[in-house]
Amino acid sequence: MTEQIDIKQILEWYLWAGVDETCGSEPFAPPPRPSAPSLVMPAARAASTNLAQDTGGAFRSAQEICAQVSTLEELRAAVEKFEGCALKLTAAHTVFGDGNPQAGVLLIGEAPGADEDRIGVPFVGRSGQLLDKMMAAIGYDRTRYYICNILPWRPPGNRTPLDSEIAVCLPFLKKQIDLVDPDYILVMGAAAANTLLDNTETISKMRGRWYEYVKSNGRTAKVLAGFHPAYLLRTPGQKAKAWADLLRLYKEIASGKNAESY
Ligand code: URA
Repeated sequence: MTEQIDIKQILEWYLWAGVDETCGSEPFAPPPRPSAPSLVMPAARAASTNLAQDTGGAFRSAQEICAQVSTLEELRAAVEKFEGCALKLTAAHTVFGDGNPQAGVLLIGEAPGADEDRIGVPFVGRSGQLLDKMMAAIGYDRTRYYICNILPWRPPGNRTPLDSEIAVCLPFLKKQIDLVDPDYILVMGAAAANTLLDNTETISKMRGRWYEYVKSNGRTAKVLAGFHPAYLLRTPGQKAKAWADLLRLYKEIASGKNAESY
């Protein structure tokens, strides 16, 4: 009986920590002794609760950090050191960004998934591979754009990010955008679109439309909203609309005044 309860606790702990798939026969977490789950889970939950209570403090701390960094590499190092977001407790890696920060084109997704968390690079799993293929179809690989997420840590079990988690990490996203200084941004999915554009519209309403985002240097980036590639994997019937959106992006860039530099 005791053993059954312990196994249930262990499995619950794995689920809570985002371990929702196996990739080998050996456990990668410390072998859960009967008392381990009850020791580990409350501590992590407590951290999460404390954070939820101090979202304002963590947000201000993120803002202060951002005020002190002036390069993308400094920002990456600062985000890796940041302790104000509980998602970091269950993540294997901080997934900061990938691609060419000088390209003038920025793609923004939601949050790392299991593959990204394991490798530390955004969009390398199934949805990333689909995105790579779609971008290749308009002649773009990661030397021609930079890519990041609104959150640099994987939510356990790929759950939907909490508003508080997005709010705490928002200064980092805004600073990353300022440092990349893109002219064109593609926001993929509702979470990224709502966060960047500060609205609550559905992605079905927003996709295919152009918006504006004012960077801290006062210049405006053109923002196109589009579907998230993970949604397209689940709903392939929407790929035609996603393709139309990528063509929109391509044509806008090609007709822009500095078109030859993209
Ligand atoms: N989905 C995202 O939003 N971002 C990733 O990096 C991977 C999957």
